[in-house]
Amino acid sequence: MPKQKFISQMEPWYDDNEIEAVTEYLKSGGWITEFKKTRELEQMIAEYVGAKFCSILPNGTLTLWAALAVLGISKGDEVIVPDYTMVATVNAVVLTGARPVFVDIDRKNLCLDFDLTKKAIIPKTKAIILVTINGRYPKIERFVKLAEENNLYLIEDAAQSFGSAYKGKHLGTFGIMGSYSFSMPKIITMGQGGALVTDNEQAYKKLLKFKDFGRSGGGSDDYEILGCNLKFTDLQAVFGIEQMKKLEWRVKRKKEIYKLYQEGLKDIKEVEFIPTNLEDTTPWFIDILVPDSDDLAEYLKENNIGSRKFYPALHNLPFYNIEGDFPITAYISEHGLWLPSSSKLQDEEVKYICDKIKNYFYLKSTNNKNG
Ligand SMILES: Cc1ncc(COP(=O)(O)O)c(C=O)c1O
Repeated sequence: MPKQKFISQMEPWYDDNEIEAVTEYLKSGGWITEFKKTRELEQMIAEYVGAKFCSILPNGTLTLWAALAVLGISKGDEVIVPDYTMVATVNAVVLTGARPVFVDIDRKNLCLDFDLTKKAIIPKTKAIILVTINGRYPKIERFVKLAEENNLYLIEDAAQSFGSAYKGKHLGTFGIMGSYSFSMPKIITMGQGGALVTDNEQAYKKLLKFKDFGRSGGGSDDYEILGCNLKFTDLQAVFGIEQMKKLEWRVKRKKEIYKLYQEGLKDIKEVEFIPTNLEDTTPWFIDILVPDSDDLAEYLKENNIGSRKFYPALHNLPFYNIEGDFPITAYISEHGLWLPSSSKLQDEEVKYICDKIKNYFYLKSTNNKNG
């Protein structure tokens, strides 16, 4: 049997469409920097998610920082964040000078626990960042109401949720601002990239100034607010437009791949899938919980299969080092493993991976029996 080539946990996917579009753009003498192609991509994203306004920024970390800054979050304020998320969610809060307040997650969907979020609200709290992890969601209307009742901003970090909805409405469109990421491992990518969507015209207009040094319009030196340079490039936008055309197919394929894994691993009692409604959720990564994620990752690597452990509990990071009890995050971080998840995966590759995982647990059980 030929040796199995290494299956990466994630890889970007582009083809002649992107190559031709970028080449054509360069041949046309485009100015590379943010201009008409970025506008075109923003329009496509706004239409796809059903938001009034969209602005593209260099990545999905700066989008969060910009959203917080535009909403006036600063030193002395508190922002509620989940303990289980990608570190960027929390770092963005710190960049504004505000204090992140960690809250544990709900075991059913790995998003903020509602009751704990409610308890964490104090007069200094100004915003809640709801991270819809891997396209999953809590009962979002409860968070919308909670934010309204307490006069807080609800910001959605939907970096992992492009292509996912809740009750038919795209994730990222429930709060005042929603953020997406287009970094390499995302369902579509521009190498790097992020988008902010909103229906709030005032926030959008302020964002446009903020991302352009605070000035009133391109090229002017009329600085109205303190801003930064968070502009995108048309070169990436041209690439992104081609990726957008592939999104619907990828959404479908990601769901098929998830089902193939569920089917392939259904008889292994040690493998736990997180409840997932595939009508709404497009799993970005295939995520499972297993007794020993390090050991399984090692075994998979020996068999040419890439995987990646879940994020660590963030309150424990040396630069946060916050005391507290976050039992669900602790459990999830220890036991969670991401399996190969690219929409490029072939059915036979998923079968190979599932067979290897079955074999791993078979070997474990026979070793245990033999002493
Ligand atoms: C939940 C979450 N927030 C923010 C980010 C940061 O996005 P970017 O890598 O585009 O800066 C990521 C990236 O994976 C993420 O998963």
